[in-house]
Amino acid sequence: MTRSFSPPVVLTGLGVAEDNLLENTPSKWARRQPPFKVMEVLKKGRELEREGRRVIHFEVGEPEFPAPLAIVKAGKQALDDGHTGYSEALGIPELRIAIADDYQSRFGIDVDPSRVAVTTGASGALNLLFSVLLNPGDRVLMPDPGYPCNEAFVRLVGGEPIRMPVDEHTGFQPTAKIVNEYWTANTVGVVLATPSNPTGAMIQKAQLTAINEFVAERGGFVMVDEIYQGLVYEPDVTEVATSSLGIEPNLIVVNSFSKYFGMTGWRLGWCVVPDGLIEALERAAQNLYIAPPTVAQYAALAAYSSEGFRVLDERRVLLQQRRDLMHRGLIDAGLEIPLMPRGAIYLYANISSLGTDAETFSARLIDDYQVGVTPGTDFGSYLARDHVRFAFTADEQHIREGTEKISHAVRRFQNEV
Ligand SMILES: Cc1ncc(COP(=O)(O)O)c(C=O)c1O
Repeated sequence: MTRSFSPPVVLTGLGVAEDNLLENTPSKWARRQPPFKVMEVLKKGRELEREGRRVIHFEVGEPEFPAPLAIVKAGKQALDDGHTGYSEALGIPELRIAIADDYQSRFGIDVDPSRVAVTTGASGALNLLFSVLLNPGDRVLMPDPGYPCNEAFVRLVGGEPIRMPVDEHTGFQPTAKIVNEYWTANTVGVVLATPSNPTGAMIQKAQLTAINEFVAERGGFVMVDEIYQGLVYEPDVTEVATSSLGIEPNLIVVNSFSKYFGMTGWRLGWCVVPDGLIEALERAAQNLYIAPPTVAQYAALAAYSSEGFRVLDERRVLLQQRRDLMHRGLIDAGLEIPLMPRGAIYLYANISSLGTDAETFSARLIDDYQVGVTPGTDFGSYLARDHVRFAFTADEQHIREGTEKISHAVRRFQNEV
């Protein structure tokens, strides 16, 4: 007999369950938390697949390649060698050293391993960092559109996320002028991402320097999420194509084994922090989740080999070809793409000319065409209803087939106007 999950309790108003016996639960934070829409689309796609339908996935931000063989082998070896217990809270020393050495060997940036904290994905790093950086009421600036979970992390520790609208006029990245406009007496820091999710936009070196100077004068922090660091195509000399640490060694940098290294499910990431923060981070890690996953750490060591980088680099070239193919397909379908991304794995398209909004567009694509895409409303509110994110991680055949279906859907929307 196949078992299924009971249907969820119906939520009303702010999301308070009707038959909830504990009046004050879930917490205000939990009630306020919107669903991560990409995961909802993915869930719907998986349901359709279980019914035997074929679904094309352009929604989820996950390279379709499994972890490289060398990493998988090292993971298996770690199990055989009995590395199944807790590690140090900041990660095994070998991996902290390998990460620090890699900044030197690939980017010529000097990082002391003592400033590296290995975490449970970039998510774990962001969570830890906000818990040691913020006091209740502190404001943190972040771009809109931008990675939505940062809002949740900031709110969890009583902080207030403040979105800075960005669009094609500033290359979908904040400038020092914008940071200045949004900075108030309660603001303590800025979170940036380069290349960014959902636009793939890269930050200009000059802007990062100016933002850093502005924030440093006010005693704040600048955190740069570099999770898509290895996935940069055609780097431009004016942009930060490697690590922001090359611009300013005292920035806080977040990274992960999820995307470039193809290890999303291993839940492993890291951050590099200024000396003064590492001890607080260690105590926070010990208390919040004890240690990052040990087997994953031994596996990740294998990424730092010439064979590891050879495979990863081949994949980067493949992703660039997929970006180009999907870009052409979406343009041919009649969508407008304001920025050709030089990094990450997403195309952010403007659908406003179709006379519909992003959520209706996404819902129709999954329901009628079995193509998963993510509405811009997942990434903020600024012009979000006009935009949809497409991940170009599927293989060529799926991209061709998916963009043809999108073309059909677009014609239907246009005929309805
Ligand atoms: C910008 C950004 N930061 C952080 C994350 C979280 O990644 P991880 O899997 O390392 O927790 C993601 C995931 O998509 C992301 O796009």
